[in-house]
Amino acid sequence: MLDIRNVSLSFGALKVLNNASFSLGKGEVLGLIGPNGAGKTSMMNVITGIHRPQTGEIRLGGIDITTSKPHEIAERGLRRTFQTSLLCSGMSVVENVMLGLEPQPAYGFWGALVGSPKVRQWEEEARQKSMEMLDWMGMAAFADRPGSSLSFGQQRLVEIARALVSRPSVLLLDEPAVGLTAPRVDELAEKIVSIRTEFGTSILLIEHVMQLVFAACSRVVVMNAGEVIADGDPKTVTADPRVVESYLGRGYYAES
Ligand SMILES: Nc1ncnc2c1ncn2[C@@H]1O[C@H](COP(=O)(O)OP(=O)(O)O)[C@@H](O)[C@H]1O
Ligand SMILES: [Mg+2]
Repeated sequence: MLDIRNVSLSFGALKVLNNASFSLGKGEVLGLIGPNGAGKTSMMNVITGIHRPQTGEIRLGGIDITTSKPHEIAERGLRRTFQTSLLCSGMSVVENVMLGLEPQPAYGFWGALVGSPKVRQWEEEARQKSMEMLDWMGMAAFADRPGSSLSFGQQRLVEIARALVSRPSVLLLDEPAVGLTAPRVDELAEKIVSIRTEFGTSILLIEHVMQLVFAACSRVVVMNAGEVIADGDPKTVTADPRVVESYLGRGYYAES
């Protein structure tokens, strides 16, 4: 679904991604782990067209998207959530989810301004789809509440609903479990697995919470200092001495 080949990215003298390669298979949930500053979010920014890599190639469904713009990549069926974002505070929860659906460009500025019948029809359909998505996430009861009134963890779920409402073929999640309690992490793992099974979405999951990685991912890629240092099934990868050394720390064996 997604092929990353020999990608390098520098900001001035700082090499953030160094000849990194991995791929995400169709319908796979792939974990991307590594210490802070390893380049995981930068990798996501390169995949989504926010940064253009100096070398390498990125393919989505066999098509070269290395130099594509973010909206072109989104139109090809790739969506993401952000590591630190929150919902738009002036909007209700369902309106926040509706932002994940592109308005039809033909409606134009004036159509949107005066609320033509076509625009109203689009809005109604978008609201309907967004409600269905919220319902699926178990968040329908919150639909009319202001986005900002939800807890941090609830906002993360709404953010996933927004990324999912257009039914993308590839979904990138940047640390969705940050700030969640252990039972909530288990629920999120279940949700992620059912996104894959029910919608067939291929998922790249950046995550520090190993509980979630183990519960949701069939394969894990480990990055350190911009390089991919391991790629394989979660058990093998987390037993790899280089991974333990750079990321998990010696205490890891004791904890697990
Ligand atoms: N826009 C930017 N300009 C300069 N340096 C950046 C920028 N974005 C990220 N970096 C640097 O790139 C490195 C990797 O960061 P990041 O991709 O956020 O890592 P991770 O998500 O794995 O914690 C860090 O050293 C960070 O400071
Ligand atoms: Mg990050």
